[in-house]
Amino acid sequence: MTELILSLDVLDRKRAVQIAESCAPFIDEIKVGYPLVLSAGLSIVEDLAGLGLPLIADFKVADIPNTNRLICEAVFAAGFDAVIAHGFVGADAARACVEVAHNHSGAAYIVAEMSHPGATEFFHGGVAESLAELAVACRADGIIAPATRPERIARLREIVGEKAIYSPGVGAQGGDPDTVARLVDGVIVGRSIYEAEDPAAEAERFSRIRR
Ligand code: XMP
Repeated sequence: MTELILSLDVLDRKRAVQIAESCAPFIDEIKVGYPLVLSAGLSIVEDLAGLGLPLIADFKVADIPNTNRLICEAVFAAGFDAVIAHGFVGADAARACVEVAHNHSGAAYIVAEMSHPGATEFFHGGVAESLAELAVACRADGIIAPATRPERIARLREIVGEKAIYSPGVGAQGGDPDTVARLVDGVIVGRSIYEAEDPAAEAERFSRIRR
C-alpha cells in the first residue's frame, strides 16, 4: 500500500493540531519540519503523539557525524519515529543518523533528489544516483525522491530496490499523485491539504492513492 504522509508545515500550534486531528483517519504518517517546530516549539510532538501516527522529523540533517548524532538523539528523545537527513555530507555523517535511528527502533531517510526546479542544478549528472547508493550502503531505511520527476523516481528505484521511497512534490509543486503513487512507498502532501478549505476532505481525496 502506498502511504499518505501529511506535511504539517503550519505555523500556528492550535491550527496544526486541529488539522492533524481532522486528517488523521485518512493519513498514515505526519511529517514535521522547521516551520512548525520553530514556531510552536519541540513540544508540538507531544500534542501530535496522541494521534497514534508515526511522526517524521524533516530536519534534513546535514552536519558532521558527531553533530548529526546529537541532533538525531534529540529528535528521537522528543518522540519522533523517523528522521530525514542529507547524504551529501558523506557516508560517515549519514550513517550517524541511521545508527541513532536504529538504536531507537526508528527510521532514517536520505534525500536523494529534491523536488523544486533548482534541484536540477546540483542533483543531476549522477549526484542523485550516488546519494541513493550511499543510502543503501549506510543501511538507511529509504530515500526521498521528487514527485515532480517520476522518471527520476524510476531511475532511483533501480538503485534502492525494495527500500522505501517517500516522495514530496505533488499538488502545490505540480506532481501527479496517481502517477507517483504507483512508483513510491509514500506520497508526502503539504499545502494541497493544509491550505484547503476542508483539509480533512482533501486528505480523504488524496487517500485514494492508498491502494
Ligand atoms: P508541499 O506543500 O509542497 O510540501 O506539498 C512538501 C513538503 O515536503 C518538503 N519537501 C522536500 N523534502 N526533499 C525533501 O526532503 C524534497 O525534495 C522535498 N520537496 C519538498 C517541503 O519542505 C515540504 O515540507
